Amino acid sequence: MHNTRELLPGIHWVGGNDRRLDRFENLFPLTNGVAYNAYVILDERTALIDTVDNAISELFMENVKQVLGGRPLDYLVINHMEPDHCGNIVNIIREFPNVTLIGNTKTFQFFEQFYGVDIQGKTLLVKDQDRLSLGQRTLKFYSAAMVHWPEVMMTYDEDDKILFSADAFGTFGAHSGGLFADETDYLNDYLAETRRYFANIIGKFGPQVQALMKKLSQDEIDIIAPLHGPVYRKDDLGYIVNKYELWSTYRPEVNSVLIVYATMYNNTTFAAEVLASQLAQRGIKGIKLMDVNQLDVSYLIAEVWKYAHVVIATPTYNADIAVKMHTFLHDLVALNVQNRSVSLITNLTWAGKPAEIVWGYLEKLKNITLVGETVTLKSTVKPDNEAPLIALAEAIVSHLSRT
Ligand code: FEO
Repeated sequence: MHNTRELLPGIHWVGGNDRRLDRFENLFPLTNGVAYNAYVILDERTALIDTVDNAISELFMENVKQVLGGRPLDYLVINHMEPDHCGNIVNIIREFPNVTLIGNTKTFQFFEQFYGVDIQGKTLLVKDQDRLSLGQRTLKFYSAAMVHWPEVMMTYDEDDKILFSADAFGTFGAHSGGLFADETDYLNDYLAETRRYFANIIGKFGPQVQALMKKLSQDEIDIIAPLHGPVYRKDDLGYIVNKYELWSTYRPEVNSVLIVYATMYNNTTFAAEVLASQLAQRGIKGIKLMDVNQLDVSYLIAEVWKYAHVVIATPTYNADIAVKMHTFLHDLVALNVQNRSVSLITNLTWAGKPAEIVWGYLEKLKNITLVGETVTLKSTVKPDNEAPLIALAEAIVSHLSRT
């Protein structure tokens, strides 16, 4: 049984969901699965925009055949050669032996590396801003290198004004009936996961996203159709493009404070709570506390993209700091986090230099401002820690009021 949707006359979604997948890339936890989008264009010639992960091959092939209704498939546009999207190219070639594969040099290099299937004579090599007529419609191909892999392209349907945007504008989370963002409870069900997807998958490549958005500004876009999650149109377009402007330039969404802490016996947690209370009493709204040992690091990273100020609170552990705090700090560096203010709280019982270890990571980041004096606890929060915590809250509030 197929399950497809018409986006516009002649443009059909032929993707599907994997609700049983626990971890995207075997790494990022999923609580509501993931959607793999692919699209068929019916014109004088037919085109398929990307395929899907091999977890949903059977449904996908049925969807494509149902939409084609017995017509041959003329083109397969390969915007992205990561296996969650290219997992059915070989099936498509088997089903439609006369199909022409559209990609760039790296696309076909990666195809050879992953599949080793002979596609000689079946390919059409395209460069940035090349065009292809399907009859009534013209497709324009944009190189989008490193949004997320080096071969990534986006495809713009000049007549329907649809941008098939590959991973960009994608999210974790399966479709629950609604395909368009305006058919979902987007703010509750998708926004946080769209941010987590961006920060962890694409966040490192902000300059490439910016370059691409500049290039795309010459085109009028009515619909953004990514490879994962909801399709954007109407008012949602401006909303998501604005988020991408902020995220890709490493500008925070809220002028508030994220406190990322490690703790063994809740003593460092208590310091985080005292600081949070002092901040709230001074007018900071929406403060968030997150425990590195309880949460997957991808959730912490997502919130770093949202918040202007990050407090890092950690005890020593084995004369070092908490292992998962290392993971968090490592990811801040790996994902190119920039333009944040930070403060530190450390806790040691007998020995260690936690502030130096934390700062060893932070000093690798661009445009990071250390705010306030580091608060140093000895095992527990004591009355003489109150004044330094209040002073830190005042320094943070003062700093945020100026940014
Ligand atoms: Fe959804 Fe970069 O793959």
